[in-house]
Amino acid sequence: MALIGVFDSGVGGLSILDEALRQLPKHDYIYLADSANAPYGEKSSEWIASRSMELCQYLAKQGCDAIMVACNTATAEAIAHIRAKLSSIPIIGVEPGIKPAAMQSANSIVGVLATEATLKSEKFNALLATLPSNCLFIKQAGAGLVPLIEAGRANSEETLELLAQHLAPIQEAGADTIVLGCTHYPFLRKAIRKLLGDSINLIDTSDAVVRQLKRKLESQEGGVEKSSHGSVKFISSKNAENLLKMAQELIQSDLSKHRIDSALVSAFH
Ligand code: DGL
Repeated sequence: MALIGVFDSGVGGLSILDEALRQLPKHDYIYLADSANAPYGEKSSEWIASRSMELCQYLAKQGCDAIMVACNTATAEAIAHIRAKLSSIPIIGVEPGIKPAAMQSANSIVGVLATEATLKSEKFNALLATLPSNCLFIKQAGAGLVPLIEAGRANSEETLELLAQHLAPIQEAGADTIVLGCTHYPFLRKAIRKLLGDSINLIDTSDAVVRQLKRKLESQEGGVEKSSHGSVKFISSKNAENLLKMAQELIQSDLSKHRIDSALVSAFH
């Protein structure tokens, strides 16, 4: 079985880890949260690219057989460099699901909620340019949402108020579909439904991303097949105990079936 590194600016990538534990429970995982530096979405491209590279190199040094860049922002700014540098292992990224959204939207009006850095990135805009021009995309940066989710306040009044402001242009345009273009945002599903109701179609790509990981692992030399669940190690640059507590709250998969470990690593060298 493989050791898989999963990295995000904070707790957002737990939405991807959760799906990975559901589809691939026997592998071992290291989840790395750079919560000391979250949010990434309002930082410069250069900073995001160099920090993401540093953290992926750290995961590679721990012996990871594959790395999931479980952050749309880091994928947009850094994935090409990371793949070039760490060319011996699969590096799987995550991008806003604008393509499935365009296909699923009945009225071809789609809201895209993502970080400012993702929406401004060349990678995202290149992807957008490949889609049919009959679909209207309303792009909205979710400024301020990530810190609230990091603080465990995804369903608070404050979050609902801020979310209502960010969703207003999307709602006014009449979108029937919203892309959750940041891995933190699946944790806002409940709040979004509270504001917009159950009929709005919410798209996140965690299932597709994990299926991609599965394909990559299948094409590699397999390790010894385990009959039990694998381990999960949670590493934080800020507070490992808090990361573990957040994981237990946010992850739907049964973590008690896995061997759990946590560590605080202030410098990832
Ligand atoms: N979870 C991240 C993403 O998918 C980054 C959010 C942030 O740190 O701003 O974009």
